Amino acid sequence: MTGAGGPRPRVVAAIDQGTTSTRCLLFGRDGTIVGSAQEEHRQFTPRPGWVEHDAVEIWDRTAQVTAGALEAAGLDGSAVVAVGITNQRETTVVWDPATGEPLAPAIVWQDTRTAGLAAELDAAVGADRLRELTGLPAATYFSGPKLRWLLDHEEGLRDRARAGRAVFGTVESWLVWKLTGGAVHRTDATNASRTLMMDLGKLRWSEELLEALGVPGRMLPEIAPASHPEAWGATAADGPFGCRIPIAGVIGDQQAALLGQLRRRPGEAKCTYGTGAFLLMHTGTEAVASKAGLLTTVAYSDAAGVEYALEGSVAVAGSLVQWLRDQLGFAESAAEVERLALQVEDSGGAVIVPAFSGLFAPWWRSDARGVICGLTRHTDRRHLARAAIEASAFQVREVIEAMRADAGHAPGELRVDGGMTVSGLLLAFQADLLGIPVVRPRCVETTALGAAVAAGLAVGFWESETELAGALEEDARFEPAMSDAERDERLAAWSKAVERSLGWV
Ligand SMILES: Nc1ncnc2c1ncn2[C@@H]1O[C@H](COP(=O)(O)OP(=O)(O)OP(=O)(O)O)[C@@H](O)[C@H]1O
Ligand SMILES: [Mg+2]
Repeated sequence: MTGAGGPRPRVVAAIDQGTTSTRCLLFGRDGTIVGSAQEEHRQFTPRPGWVEHDAVEIWDRTAQVTAGALEAAGLDGSAVVAVGITNQRETTVVWDPATGEPLAPAIVWQDTRTAGLAAELDAAVGADRLRELTGLPAATYFSGPKLRWLLDHEEGLRDRARAGRAVFGTVESWLVWKLTGGAVHRTDATNASRTLMMDLGKLRWSEELLEALGVPGRMLPEIAPASHPEAWGATAADGPFGCRIPIAGVIGDQQAALLGQLRRRPGEAKCTYGTGAFLLMHTGTEAVASKAGLLTTVAYSDAAGVEYALEGSVAVAGSLVQWLRDQLGFAESAAEVERLALQVEDSGGAVIVPAFSGLFAPWWRSDARGVICGLTRHTDRRHLARAAIEASAFQVREVIEAMRADAGHAPGELRVDGGMTVSGLLLAFQADLLGIPVVRPRCVETTALGAAVAAGLAVGFWESETELAGALEEDARFEPAMSDAERDERLAAWSKAVERSLGWV
């Protein structure tokens, strides 16, 4: 196809709906970003431990950044060959299928209000059975108990759901519903694997778990492959793209980053540092059970089959830096927090365990809360800024140790991405704590790239993800430099601080 101005550009659009912001990126065939736009949305914390989003605002931002990315690239929707969607996972939305209006605030993955419900589920089904069916522990993190909470607390919701007048979805389902003008109510296997409601081996909703949770099956989306040319329908002509384009990739953000880092062989891993930090290791077509506190999760699925991963989820990473910035007023920006941290040699003995949502992997303790330990009269903002950045590295070290215990080996080097990896301080300290090199690729927008890859593979825009290797070339490598003695000392201090955080509530 050639127009007056030469070959028409063809791109895949990726919508990356994250916890703090929504982005749309347009990728060309060589993986270059042709246009992008990003908008933040509000975080509602009406009570301690509660975190909510407004699903309408999320949709509005999605429409806005889609238009913004097209405009930035000087393109219209007709240049887009396929749409990929990736999303903050577990966050729970219910809406009226007749009007497309949400019926409650969205409960965000970080929200801990379901601690009691998760414990009940654990007791009713049994921890071993839950793990066997879903690959997950009973924790506040996952969607099923959040949905149960809404059914218990939103007046009339259960009756509406039984009557087909209320439906559930995580954020990707919500966006697919809105983008298709209400034509498609589906979720993909990667997102469904985070609900505590899906049978991980069969990729189907588990009757046993729906019953235990008291969720009417009728309100759930159909489970579809993450990458598929037809399963997801097309964008509505009167929607933000202005024309009908196949939605061909739908995949949770961390699985998208694994794919975007081109980690598709068993043993390959990546760690994404954004709001939280998430280390995923591909395990091929085998769902490997964890004994060390990791999750077993769907990594990818398409018409040909399913792939799995082991995951270590850390709830609070970059959001601790934001907390210092916004709640404590340490600085104007995250970058400025890092600059503060760089003004001191070390944290002066201060350790922050940011257990704002309890502790996730490998602990899974909803009774933990944040602590700051090791303060002296010497401690100032710079030390706390440093301790905040170091906290991410300590938590990822715990996850790597769990991987080693489960898989018998840990990666020889760690590939990283996400907004927090602009911090050289973080990555150098991470290499020190792990004793292995930490490698950052040129493209750190791997979450969006992964969504584009899922969509682009489905429609034949790319034959294989390996065509994108150029975009993933190494940008920076951090070699470990810390002595064993110092590392042991730092890790011992971290362990003591973690102990202090447990059993707080
Ligand atoms: N120079 C820096 N030093 C330390 N942290 C930083 C720096 N710059 C950004 N961050 C952190 O990186 C995070 C943003 O990363 P990213 O943009 O990947 O998150 P995100 O994609 O918005 O997360 P999510 O997808 O969960 O919404 C913020 O939490 C911010 O605090
Ligand atoms: Mg993100």
